[in-house]
Amino acid sequence: MIQKLFIFSLFLYLSQVSAQNHWQAPDTAKQLKNPLDDTPAVIHQGQNIFKSLCQSCHGIDGTGNPIMVKSLNPPPANLTTKTVQQQTDGEIFWKITQGRGLMASYKNMLSDKERWAVVSYIRTLAQKPMTQISKKPDVPNAIDAFPFSQLINAKTTFIRQTKGFGFGIQHRFGATKFDKNMLQNFFGLDLAANMRFFFEIPINDRLMLETGRTRYGKFYDLGAKYLIFKQTSDNRKPVSIALYENIAIMTDNAPSYSDQATFDNGNKFEFKFYHRLYYDTQIIISRKFTSNFSAQIAGQLVWRNLTPYSVKPKEQSYVIAVPISMRYKLGLKSALDFEIMPNTQPHNMPLSVGYEIASSGNHVFQITLTNSDRILSQNLLFYPTIKYPKDGFMLGFNLVRYF
Ligand code: HEC
Repeated sequence: MIQKLFIFSLFLYLSQVSAQNHWQAPDTAKQLKNPLDDTPAVIHQGQNIFKSLCQSCHGIDGTGNPIMVKSLNPPPANLTTKTVQQQTDGEIFWKITQGRGLMASYKNMLSDKERWAVVSYIRTLAQKPMTQISKKPDVPNAIDAFPFSQLINAKTTFIRQTKGFGFGIQHRFGATKFDKNMLQNFFGLDLAANMRFFFEIPINDRLMLETGRTRYGKFYDLGAKYLIFKQTSDNRKPVSIALYENIAIMTDNAPSYSDQATFDNGNKFEFKFYHRLYYDTQIIISRKFTSNFSAQIAGQLVWRNLTPYSVKPKEQSYVIAVPISMRYKLGLKSALDFEIMPNTQPHNMPLSVGYEIASSGNHVFQITLTNSDRILSQNLLFYPTIKYPKDGFMLGFNLVRYF
């Protein structure tokens, strides 16, 4: 008798365990037909219901909210799997109607029509499980060589993928040397300083706009960057390539010129609006070489409409430059930056180093050491750089924050 009881209770126990594992709808449920056509309107209605009632457990794409999957036992079912998708509409409908365990019955909360609409929506999840797409090993990842859209003065190929906008400040203090004045002028911080503040507005994952204002020359600038393609993890695209264009308007007082000044054709010189315009055109190529080391090179043409006429030899109205930038990650929160901009202008070789002391997805702070207090390329490449170490160096900082 006792033995029989034991076997009977063991049987009960086992049947319960298996009931826990397989949630079986009755045969009558299997035969139920979905009375709704899966029109966009029905799917949309189902999606709205799913978002408000189901997503918290089953996840945005039906694969299960990771937090709930960890904390609930049994976990919320992955609705994108074959086990679920091979069931008839009727079975799924029946389960939503009945509920089991932690999943409530939606019999009273949703009308029949509403439950059928959710069933139609669940069908669409099988076609597009987002997480499965991104986890597929044969889909190469796109790689950003630099985590921000500019390094010290140079633009990078980076375009931020998220919505929002960036705000930044680039600050360059006066030149200081290792001498007795260094402390007196506090490393140049007391001296006249140049500053540019700017906004970056990503339009989509390929296009970014920026606008800034610089103290020296009272420049207002408007730029656009377009990412042609991005480096991929399978190396089929070994580099990222972007185009960049910036137009700056000098709004400071017109430079003084003599009454005798003429245009090249001999006509009397007059300062016109277009003389205020400066252009910066670049093609930028970047590559992340290792998880710590990235570098980029650009071909750059900077053009100004007004060339100082009295300078001998006569100055050019353009500069061609080949900026090279490197970044070496020291740790999670710090990196060393280096930049050099060989170019066709005499007495000009911008050279900068930077130390990123706090960088995260949303902000970066760099302490910079430069040989020019100019920031915009339209200014930096025309204005002579100081001789290091004879003339000292300039301290500065860059600060960018995303909102
Ligand atoms: C509180 C969390 C929670 C919410 C909210 C929830 N579910 Fe579930 N769901 C679960 C859990 C847990 C299971 C597994 C139940 C089991 O096997 O005992 C499940 C199972 C299911 C199944 C059965 C899958 C299978 O294995 O056959 C379907 C279908 C389903 N849910 C649909 C929905 C829909 C539709 C909604 C919204 C109307 C919803 N769920 C809301 C937790 C939830």
